[in-house]
Amino acid sequence: MSNLFDLTGKVALVTGGSRGLGRAMALGFARAGADLIIASRKLDACEEVAAEIRALGRRAMARSCHVGHWDDLAALVDAAYAEFGRIDILVNNAALSPVMNNRDISEDFFDKIVGVNFKGPFRLSTLVGNRMVDGDGGVIINISSGASLHPLPLVGPYSASKAALNALTQVFAADFGPKVRVNTIVCGSFNTDMFQPGEDAKARIEANVKAINRVAEPEEIVTTALYLASPASSYTTGAMIRVDGGVP
Ligand SMILES: NC(=O)c1ccc[n+]([C@@H]2O[C@H](COP(=O)([O-])OP(=O)(O)OC[C@H]3O[C@@H](n4cnc5c(N)ncnc54)[C@H](OP(=O)(O)O)[C@@H]3O)[C@@H](O)[C@H]2O)c1
Repeated sequence: MSNLFDLTGKVALVTGGSRGLGRAMALGFARAGADLIIASRKLDACEEVAAEIRALGRRAMARSCHVGHWDDLAALVDAAYAEFGRIDILVNNAALSPVMNNRDISEDFFDKIVGVNFKGPFRLSTLVGNRMVDGDGGVIINISSGASLHPLPLVGPYSASKAALNALTQVFAADFGPKVRVNTIVCGSFNTDMFQPGEDAKARIEANVKAINRVAEPEEIVTTALYLASPASSYTTGAMIRVDGGVP
């Protein structure tokens, strides 16, 4: 049974792997035996995580990449295949989540949110998914948000971009199946740089009508990512798994 979660010999690419949930997933995958490609805009931060992974005895490559830029994504995938010869696990995790009034959002900023949260994952999934289909197969995991199912006015484009990411899950599960499985984790709030509510908001969340009335730690999402990355989920594809503490 324990072998079902073993990632020995697998290569995983995690966007936004430099901190927050991305870093936690990268370390979790490395502990399960995987080698890692860590990508985000800040190379130094990616290098730090890569060093942590090497200290665990795994191989790791750090790479600067803006996931909203298709040229950057092509270069990232080429570099990953040149170094490792394969990608078995792709995690579309990088995102930005600005809290602001919809009327104050400029066209450039709207394009940036959609570019990082939706356009980039679309492109990266096509680049990697097609190579997986031509090779040994693989898995793609999208990191979505409860805001995609319960959209909120102050995160309008974010909510909509994550709903679009949810839709891609079924698109690519059908397109790349059966060799590639594609799934999405719909996360509730967890503690990272992105989630920085004031005390008022924290109190509201903790009094919220959800079964587990607290904010999660990233590691509580990582376990679901491990399930989706590994043979334990061999019959799961096109799925959206809510890990949100039980929001109704
Ligand atoms: N935290 C929550 O409560 C929560 C709730 C629901 C869903 N989520 C989702 O969970 C995922 C991870 O969130 P998090 O809280 O861990 O976020 P975070 O702590 O803010 O980290 C974001 C990561 O994305 C990278 N990134 C940002 N813009 C990028 C770009 N243009 N190109 C490449 N990398 C970029 C950042 O690195 P650089 O700055 O170096 O680029 C960083 O590694 C996101 O998809 C988010 O929407 C989070």
